Amino acid sequence: DQQPVTVTVTGAAGQIGYALLFRIASGAMLGEDVPIRLRLLEVPAAVRAAEGTALELADCAFGPLVSVDVTDRPAEAFDGADVALLVGSRPRTAGMERSDLLEANAGIFGPQGRAINDHAASGVRVLVVGNPANTNALIAATSAPDVPRERFTAMTRLDHNRAVAQLAARLGCRASDVDGVSIWGNHSATQYPDVTHATAGGQPVPTLVEQDWLESEFIPRVARRGAEIIDVRGASSAASAASAAVDHVRDWVHGTPGRWTSAGVASDGSYGVPEGLVSSFPVRSEDGRFSIVQGLDIPAFSRARIDASVAELEAERDAVRGLGLLG
Ligand code: NAI
Repeated sequence: DQQPVTVTVTGAAGQIGYALLFRIASGAMLGEDVPIRLRLLEVPAAVRAAEGTALELADCAFGPLVSVDVTDRPAEAFDGADVALLVGSRPRTAGMERSDLLEANAGIFGPQGRAINDHAASGVRVLVVGNPANTNALIAATSAPDVPRERFTAMTRLDHNRAVAQLAARLGCRASDVDGVSIWGNHSATQYPDVTHATAGGQPVPTLVEQDWLESEFIPRVARRGAEIIDVRGASSAASAASAAVDHVRDWVHGTPGRWTSAGVASDGSYGVPEGLVSSFPVRSEDGRFSIVQGLDIPAFSRARIDASVAELEAERDAVRGLGLLG
């Protein structure tokens, strides 16, 4: 029989947590034949609410679900973790400076990175969802010196899926017909959704859509979709974010044969992105590892947008470093 996989989810009582846990427990992320132990980490005030979610998880009688434990202690939550989904974070509130936001989150992702370093399984895979996701992933990775950098990733899969969905709607095809979309840079409004190498039903997307539509509608719509959802739904994206997290981990573990996707990964210097920054790239997954898609032609239009988003990532990194939070 297959050994259970331990999946740790932080921010389990939040709205993404509520959409995410049921998908994981049903087997959508790792497969219906893989037994799962869930470990839920919350702040003390939300532990009881997370326990309520655990009651509902039990009531679903999901086949893969072996156990659910709820705790407010990172060392316990990450003990033996094979997959860690870091969803809980300190949101930006009115009047908060960016440096305050980065500092508050370093106070969360630093200790969680250390707990992962000291307690997680040796092959742990980490996905940071909580914003600012890329820089939080950098902080967690820096706090986990014994874990290879490639095991710390940040979620830009929601941006990727949004871009695919916008293209499919424009072209009247299915999302599954679209391939080769890339999200570059930061999970923020500076991100660059790139269709230069995308295809729809095997046809090059740049021959199917006008540059003007790309510049004036597609790029801003994808980059600002989070704000659109808040405006229309009255709350931030939750189910779609949870679904993207499931997609990210599933593809990381099971691969992306013949296709590519986007993920925030530690840069190896590819495409001029400074080494070590956690930036979104087009990636393939094979044998349980992400690798950055190499050899893509980057026209000047793309270059300028990638550079702008990477500059924002560097500024976030420098701000965190300036606060003495990167060791
Ligand atoms: P939420 O506010 O509903 O839930 C967050 C939960 O995290 C709360 O229950 C809170 O108690 C918990 N939490 C806070 N600090 C914690 C800590 N130190 N340890 C454990 N739990 C902690 O927020 P929601 O809607 O679930 O979103 C979560 C995060 O995901 C936010 O930062 C949001 O900005 C981000 N997000 C990222 C996306 C992406 O594409 N990367 C997309 C959508 C949201």
